[in-house]
Amino acid sequence: YWSLICFCFVFESWALETLVAHYGDIIKIPCNRGAPKPANLIFTKWKYVRKFSNTPNLCLLIIDDSNITVMATDEYQGRVSIAPDFSLLISSAALGDQRKFTCMRASADDIFEYPVHVQVLKPPSVVEILYCSWCQHSLICEANPAANITWYKNDQVLVADGKEVIIITSVNKHHETGLSSTSSILRYSASKRDVDANFTCRASNLTSAPVSFLITYPPQKVTLHVTPSGPLKEGDNVTLRCSADGNPPPSRYIIHLKVIMVEDSYTLTMVKRSHSGEYHCSPADNSSLLDSQTLEVLYLDISLNPSGRVDRTTGSSLAVLLQTNASGEPTVSWTKNKARLTAEPQFDQLKFSDSGLYECEVAIEGLIRRSSFILDVQGPPVIRSVDENQEIGGKHKNLSCEVEGSPKPSIQWSVNGTKEITHADGRVTQTLTLIPKENLTVTCFVKNHLGQEARSIDVSSGIFKRNATGTSVLIDGADAVGAVVGLILCALTLAVIYWIYWTKSSQGSWRTGENGTTEEKRKLEEEQKAKV
Ligand SMILES: *[C@@H]1O[C@H](CO)[C@@H](O)[C@H](O)[C@H]1NC(C)=O
Ligand SMILES: *[C@@H]1O[C@H](CO)[C@@H](O)[C@H](O)[C@H]1NC(C)=O
Ligand SMILES: *[C@@H]1O[C@H](CO)[C@@H](O)[C@H](O)[C@H]1NC(C)=O
Ligand SMILES: *[C@@H]1O[C@H](CO)[C@@H](O)[C@H](O)[C@H]1NC(C)=O
Ligand SMILES: *[C@@H]1O[C@H](CO)[C@@H](O)[C@H](O)[C@H]1NC(C)=O
Ligand SMILES: *[C@@H]1O[C@H](CO)[C@@H](O)[C@H](O)[C@H]1NC(C)=O
Ligand SMILES: *[C@@H]1O[C@H](CO)[C@@H](O)[C@H](O)[C@H]1NC(C)=O
Ligand SMILES: *[C@@H]1O[C@H](CO)[C@@H](O)[C@H](O)[C@H]1NC(C)=O
Ligand SMILES: *[C@@H]1O[C@H](CO)[C@@H](O)[C@H](O)[C@H]1NC(C)=O
Ligand SMILES: *[C@@H]1O[C@H](CO)[C@@H](O)[C@H](O)[C@H]1NC(C)=O
Ligand SMILES: *[C@@H]1O[C@H](CO)[C@@H](O)[C@H](O)[C@H]1NC(C)=O
Repeated sequence: YWSLICFCFVFESWALETLVAHYGDIIKIPCNRGAPKPANLIFTKWKYVRKFSNTPNLCLLIIDDSNITVMATDEYQGRVSIAPDFSLLISSAALGDQRKFTCMRASADDIFEYPVHVQVLKPPSVVEILYCSWCQHSLICEANPAANITWYKNDQVLVADGKEVIIITSVNKHHETGLSSTSSILRYSASKRDVDANFTCRASNLTSAPVSFLITYPPQKVTLHVTPSGPLKEGDNVTLRCSADGNPPPSRYIIHLKVIMVEDSYTLTMVKRSHSGEYHCSPADNSSLLDSQTLEVLYLDISLNPSGRVDRTTGSSLAVLLQTNASGEPTVSWTKNKARLTAEPQFDQLKFSDSGLYECEVAIEGLIRRSSFILDVQGPPVIRSVDENQEIGGKHKNLSCEVEGSPKPSIQWSVNGTKEITHADGRVTQTLTLIPKENLTVTCFVKNHLGQEARSIDVSSGIFKRNATGTSVLIDGADAVGAVVGLILCALTLAVIYWIYWTKSSQGSWRTGENGTTEEKRKLEEEQKAKV
């Protein structure tokens, strides 16, 4: 008897055409596998059988293409329609649609029935059924048809441990269709760390959409953020922002500045040293949660004496005083005319060369202050040197007069010539180029409103030449030649005069001029020297 039932069941299952549809889709059931309608067709009927009911339910009655009547009064009333080939269309496939639908065709000759069994596949779906904080969360996963359900947390298999993770699986038989599905309940002790965790269930090779627990927990940690985080300097802008964990996080915060602010963020613009101190913040509704930060505002004041433009006379003294008031030990550096000085300038006896732009730079951790003064040392001009520069082998002589002084002195020579001025290291040098016709004493006069000075130099008219060791030696002079010629003429004249005198008086003696003899002597000596 049992085997017979079993056989019938197996036979029926084997004999019935099965149509597999997906949950939510449109089920399309063809009549007689979509074969063309027979001749003499009177009507087509779609019907189905409910369980526990003997009479089939009429779904649709079709007389012809233009006379289609929906007979269903149950859940199929609004869901059924007919395709041009008389296939039955059922919208939104549900698990309850897993039943036998029969297409019946009546022609003048016969009646044909084509039963089709519909199976609806439903991917596993998860529903969160319970929500509470600090207790176990439950998820239900359903799979149809029945399948082994596996739970995953972020793609990691969850293994039941009977405490934190409890999995209860049951196989349910649909009361009407008699088909089974599986449901699995996951009881999970969710905590803060599961806030963003995705839970899925898998049945055969299908995976459910991920579900996250809605986990709430009170704030346990509050943080006061200070931006920028580095050392603060006077003039900076600093933003204080309060945040806390907790789900949901607190909606309002209190920031304790010097005053109490109900803000989650506050910006102090152009901070001053008076803003230094400790700042707190806490959620508006729980002042026992607190975070604090200490702000230290770096400051730096400097005062430089003297400053601006300073005029002093040579020989006087100048005291330089740089005072700093800073939140730490600052570094000080000095420059004179942009060149680094090794120490703070101090002047006991001012020299012209002390004139210049003095700048100091005081720094403390990125906070920089600068100050400067311009020192102008004034005094009567001083001639540093008057030199002769002989052009070797030439007749030009360059005379230079190097002068220091402020205000800038005027320079004048006692003779005429080509002048050229050069400046270097605060000194003025005027060069005079001339061709002396004779031995000269040339004087350089310098002068400003504070005083004047003069210095002379003897300039010979001789021409110099380098000897073997490279030293310049006087070899000849235009005037020397002239002098020799002059001496000869002079000697001739003297000889004539002497002769006249001798012939006239024939008494006493005439002394030759000292000048001529000494000149000749010296020349002889030098020629001997040159030979040596
Ligand atoms: C459709 O067929 C039924 C039954 O034969 C009939 O009563 C009805 O009048 C027909 N309707 C139309 C619009 O032809
Ligand atoms: C579920 O898995 C067990 C063992 O892994 C297996 O015996 C059983 O047939 C499976 N059930 C289904 C419905 O796949
Ligand atoms: C959870 O899923 C969402 C959307 O599917 C994704 O953006 C998120 O990164 C997932 N979280 C984890 C921890 O995998
Ligand atoms: C799941 O398995 C069935 C049969 O085993 C297969 O037809 C289907 O393509 C598979 N689906 C996926 C998403 O792997
Ligand atoms: C404030 O937070 C602390 C620490 O999370 C907590 O113990 C306390 O109960 C909270 N108080 C209120 C009034 O919420
Ligand atoms: C600080 O904020 C003020 C006003 O918003 C702005 O004028 C100033 O440039 C800011 N200073 C800095 C250093 O960003
Ligand atoms: C330095 O600055 C602080 C803060 O402004 C001030 O209290 C102090 O009097 C100043 N000291 C001097 C020597 O200027
Ligand atoms: C003398 O001065 C002239 C003109 O400035 C210059 O060309 C020449 O080189 C100078 N001679 C010497 C020896 O310095
Ligand atoms: C320099 O030359 C000017 C004219 O060119 C003349 O008047 C003056 O006397 C000359 N000075 C000397 C010292 O030779
Ligand atoms: C000119 O001076 C040179 C030496 O500087 C001397 O040797 C020469 O004799 C002098 N000439 C005259 C004419 O005085
Ligand atoms: C070059 O002249 C210098 C100075 O007059 C003298 O001391 C030196 O001996 C001379 N050398 C030669 C090689 O003539």
